Amino acid sequence: MLPGDFPSIIPTKPDRKDMVRFGILGITGLAGLALVVIMLLFVISAWLGRPLSMFGYDEGPDQPIVFPHTKHVQDVGLDCTFCHRNVTKGASATVPSVGLCMTCHTVVGDESAEIEKLRDYHAQGEPIDWVRVHRLPDHVRFNHQAHIQYFSEQNNILPAAVCATCHGDVGNMKKVRQVEPLKMGNCVDCHRDNSASTDCSTCHY
Ligand code: HEC
Ligand code: HEC
Ligand code: HEC
Ligand code: HEC
Ligand code: HEC
Repeated sequence: MLPGDFPSIIPTKPDRKDMVRFGILGITGLAGLALVVIMLLFVISAWLGRPLSMFGYDEGPDQPIVFPHTKHVQDVGLDCTFCHRNVTKGASATVPSVGLCMTCHTVVGDESAEIEKLRDYHAQGEPIDWVRVHRLPDHVRFNHQAHIQYFSEQNNILPAAVCATCHGDVGNMKKVRQVEPLKMGNCVDCHRDNSASTDCSTCHY
């Protein structure tokens, strides 16, 4: 082949303007793709009923006092039912009052800024506004006592060993977060598996 044959096939070298144009096209293309991916992630995660695990969304909410379950459950060895006293007795598990915390923290934690806050609440006689992590819609009925009793008797385990089924390993969480979707399908599946009632009125007002 002689040099100069088929000159039209030889690509012309892109000039500066072309490079800039390609650059912009490439960047907008990537940004568009990223946007689509992010939107898809949101849709999928909303569909699964779980908060996103990216961007720290599944970390659980910030609390007025950074309360570490890890320290109290693993290091101090407290049972879940020591603090969530109503969990074996009634519908809601309940979070302990400042007074219960103070049985230890009148003396424990002198160096801690978080304990300082706790003592301030106590001195003011104010309750702590803990941010709810799990919350079902108002039209749904739930009862802790029935579930704890049933599964601890059924499997011959302590009440505290039942919590993980729906809440995950809270004793290992520095910050409580929701790990199970707890959607209607999850409730109904387990009710069916355990021959518990699946009547609408069991769970709905
Ligand atoms: C020393 C007391 C204490 C002990 C022991 C304790 N908790 Fe808690 N728990 C709290 C406090 C205070 C909160 C509220 C602040 C927060 O969410 O971190 C809480 C929050 C929670 C929540 C979130 C409630 C919501 O808003 O949805 C769950 C679930 C929970 N605890 C489960 C457990 C389980 C399971 C155990 C045992 C492995 C346990 N807790 C042991 C004090 C305690
Ligand atoms: C049975 C005793 C006991 C009870 C009840 C208790 N705690 Fe504690 N707490 C401890 C001990 C022990 C530590 C570890 C202190 C340390 O590491 O210096 C601790 C650590 C903490 C810390 C971390 C302090 C830090 O900065 O490291 C916070 C915050 C805290 N507790 C808050 C609470 C709250 C809020 C309650 C009530 C819901 C509560 N505690 C109930 C014994 C208790
Ligand atoms: C069958 C599933 C299931 C089990 C087992 C379970 N929970 Fe819950 N828990 C829930 C649901 C659902 C909610 C939200 C309830 C609502 O919004 O009415 C909740 C809410 C909570 C809350 C915050 C609201 C309240 O009721 O005070 C705490 C604290 C809690 N659970 C602790 C516990 C502890 C401790 C155990 C084990 C002793 C336990 N849970 C076992 C499903 C469960
Ligand atoms: C791990 C399995 C399991 C899950 C998950 C579960 N349940 Fe249940 N539930 C049961 C069983 C078993 C019973 C029957 C208990 C009995 O017969 O004493 C029951 C009973 C109930 C009752 C009747 C309580 C009473 O007073 O007799 C209600 C209400 C209820 N569940 C609501 C729910 C809701 C709402 C959810 C989802 C957020 C849910 N359950 C998730 C197993 C489950
Ligand atoms: C074992 C408990 C349970 C039973 C039985 C149950 N539901 Fe539900 N239902 C829930 C829970 C929990 C929610 C809220 C979470 C969610 O939206 O999935 C819910 C939500 C709903 C919603 C609202 C959905 C939305 O998108 O807002 C409707 C409607 C509903 N249920 C209808 C029914 C009907 C009809 C029946 C009987 C055929 C029934 N449920 C039986 C637990 C139950």
